[in-house]
Amino acid sequence: MSEGGNPLLERLAAIEEEGVAALRDAADEEALETARVRYLGRSGAVADVLGRIGSLPADQRRPVGQKGNAVKRALEETHETRAAELRMRESARAAADRDLTRPGRTAWPGGSHPVTAVIDEICDIFRELGFTRVRGPEVETEWYNFTALNIPLDHPAADVHDTFYLEDGVVLRTHTSPVQARTMQTHQPPVRVVVPGVCYRRESIDASHAAVFDQIEGLAVDEGVDFVEFRSTIEHFVRRFFGAETRTRFRPDFFPFTEPSAQVEVSCTICGGSGCATCKGTGWIEIMGSGMVDPAVFEAVGYDPERYTGYAFGMGPGRMALLRHGIPDLRLLHEGDVRFLRQFAST
Ligand code: PHE
Repeated sequence: MSEGGNPLLERLAAIEEEGVAALRDAADEEALETARVRYLGRSGAVADVLGRIGSLPADQRRPVGQKGNAVKRALEETHETRAAELRMRESARAAADRDLTRPGRTAWPGGSHPVTAVIDEICDIFRELGFTRVRGPEVETEWYNFTALNIPLDHPAADVHDTFYLEDGVVLRTHTSPVQARTMQTHQPPVRVVVPGVCYRRESIDASHAAVFDQIEGLAVDEGVDFVEFRSTIEHFVRRFFGAETRTRFRPDFFPFTEPSAQVEVSCTICGGSGCATCKGTGWIEIMGSGMVDPAVFEAVGYDPERYTGYAFGMGPGRMALLRHGIPDLRLLHEGDVRFLRQFAST
C-alpha cells in the first residue's frame, strides 16, 4: 500500500471501507444511527485514530491527520445520502398506507353531561303532563328563599352555617323553591311548572353531598288539585323515569311550605327492593321532598288559599343520575373528567 506501512493510515483505510459499507447498507434509521456512532461518534473509530496522532513521530502526523479528515468527510457524505434515502422510503410507505376508503377519524363533538341529560329527561316527562319549564335567579333575597316559603329567618335552614349570604338579606338560593313564589306572583292559576336550576349550601362535600348542586322543583296549583292528582302524577313520573316495575311510597315528612309533607321513595333501582348497599338494606331510596302547598305560601304570594290548592316537589337530578347509571359517588359527576363522563353521552 502507498501508505508506506504506517499502521494508522492502514487503519483509516480499513475504517473507510467498513464504515462506508455499514452506513450505505443500513437497513433502517436505527441501524444507520448505530453505524454513525460507531464510526463517526465522539468515541468512534475515526476519533480513536485521530486521538492517537500525538504519539506519532512528528513527520508522520500530517498525513494521518489529512487522511483522517478525508475519511471522516467520506463517511459523513455516505451517512447523509443514506439518511435521505431512508426518509424518502418512510414517506412513500406512509403514503401507501393511506387507505382512502377507510372511515375518517372524526372529532368527538361533545355531549350532554349526565346531569343535564337527566334534567332534560325529567322536564320532558313533566311537559307531557302539562308542566312548563321555567327558571329563576340563583341570587335570591331572603324573602323568596325563606320568608315567602313560611321558613322563619331564625329557622336552622336560614342560618349562616347552612347558607351562603352575599350581603344582608341576599343569599345564594339554597333550593329551587323560591321560584314557586316568583311564579305564583307573576302568573294566575292554573300553574304547572318544573324548575331546574343550581342551588348552593354550605355542605361538606362527600359521596352524596355537594355545595353546588342541581335541583328540579315542581309546582301545580289550581282549583280542586288534590292529593290524588299529586300522588298519581308522581307515580307516573317514577314509572316513566325508572321503569314500569318501580314502586313508589310516600312517607310523612316536614317542610314549612307544604302541609302535609311527604318524602317520596322508590323501590331500589339497583337491587329491585331486596336490599343492597345503595338502599342501605331497606329496599327503598328517597328521591324527593314534596307535599300539598301550605296555605301560608298562597297568602304570601297573594293567592286565595280558600280557592286554590296545589302540590309541590323538589328533587336532585344529580342523585337521579347516580341511580340511573349506578354511579357510586356524586363527586364523579362534578369533577368534570371527560374520560369518565363521556361513557354516559348518547353521541
Ligand atoms: N325545597 C326542599 C329542599 O330543598 C324540597 C321540597 C320542594 C320539598 C318542594 C317540598 C316541596 O329540601
